[in-house]
Amino acid sequence: MQTVMLTGSQLDQAADFIKQGQLVAFPTETVYGLGADATNEAAVKKVYQAKGRPSDNPLIVTVASVLMVEKYVQSFSDDAKKLIKKFWPGSLTMIFKLKPNALSKTVTGGLDTAAFRFPNNQLTLNLITKAGVPLVGPSANTSGKPSPTTAQHVYHDLNGKIAAIVDDGPTTVGVESTVLDMSTEMPAILRPGAVTKEDIEAVIHRTVMDERHHVGLNQTPKAPGMKYKHYAPDAQVYIVDPDDDWQAVADWIKAYSKPVGVMAFDRVIQSVNWPENTDVISLGNDAQSAAHDLFAELRDFDNHKQYQVIFAQGLKPVGLAEAYMNRLNKSAGQMHFKQL
Ligand code: TXA
Ligand code: MG
Repeated sequence: MQTVMLTGSQLDQAADFIKQGQLVAFPTETVYGLGADATNEAAVKKVYQAKGRPSDNPLIVTVASVLMVEKYVQSFSDDAKKLIKKFWPGSLTMIFKLKPNALSKTVTGGLDTAAFRFPNNQLTLNLITKAGVPLVGPSANTSGKPSPTTAQHVYHDLNGKIAAIVDDGPTTVGVESTVLDMSTEMPAILRPGAVTKEDIEAVIHRTVMDERHHVGLNQTPKAPGMKYKHYAPDAQVYIVDPDDDWQAVADWIKAYSKPVGVMAFDRVIQSVNWPENTDVISLGNDAQSAAHDLFAELRDFDNHKQYQVIFAQGLKPVGLAEAYMNRLNKSAGQMHFKQL
């Protein structure tokens, strides 16, 4: 199959592919998604195949209106209504209880809930409206690889496996949406993202659990996707913690003598004497630029450099830096410079 790149003026063609049960990758503000008609079980099955995704990992349902969600969910609590009003369209995915048999098991992984996402990207909202159905929308990467933040990343992973990619340039946020479970007594964040616990608590005026508590209580993360090794480049990534000395990292690289990648803030890059075998890439100056660049830089290191070791800047996990550190920890398999 030839995968075609489509622009915003070719959405009719993209919508036709969706209606025919084919796969179309679409832009969002977080990362690119892999779309299929969520009401067409055969089409949804192809998504798992194209990604190489374990079939017990449920898919996000991507919508272009609140009405589209109401068709499938039992009801919205007052808190859910407030969150929808504040954050949709945007980077907050919410899990709701479904009406019986509202969506196929292929979408839900057999759960009686589903995760709904209303992305902040006009092309994709238009595409969904033209197709007239919600789209399943996992990240459009090969399972286990960093999520795609450009159409070219999608092409790299899925060329020949999907019908088309709608190209809307690089995404703005760079890490996937916050996943908030609204189907339980106490709302719980299953995956941190650009919408933070504090942002959510400020709207609903009550405590929100976070994903780390879930893991602590029963050892298995509640979002099935969180148990797999994720976002991993071929190289081993080591986190350089905020209290680590970057000059010691440079000394380690010098002694190692083979080429090594470094991803760090500008001020760190400028403050250290890097040995010649270091390839330094900037993460900008703050958590926002770091989150935006993380996946693209991990891919860049993999595709062009084939290093065995990458050092990446660790941040104090507050605000958006919590999402950044969550993804970085998975990329690194929890390995830190300190352990070397
Ligand atoms: O930003 C995003 O959310 C991107 C863009 C493309 O929209 N999508 C995305 O989808 O990241 P995916 O499938 O890669 O990640 C969805 C996560 C997985 O960890 C999955 O296990 C979890 O949400 N999830 C989906 N449905 C769930 C459910 N009913 N209960 C618990 N977790 C669920
Ligand atoms: Mg994913």
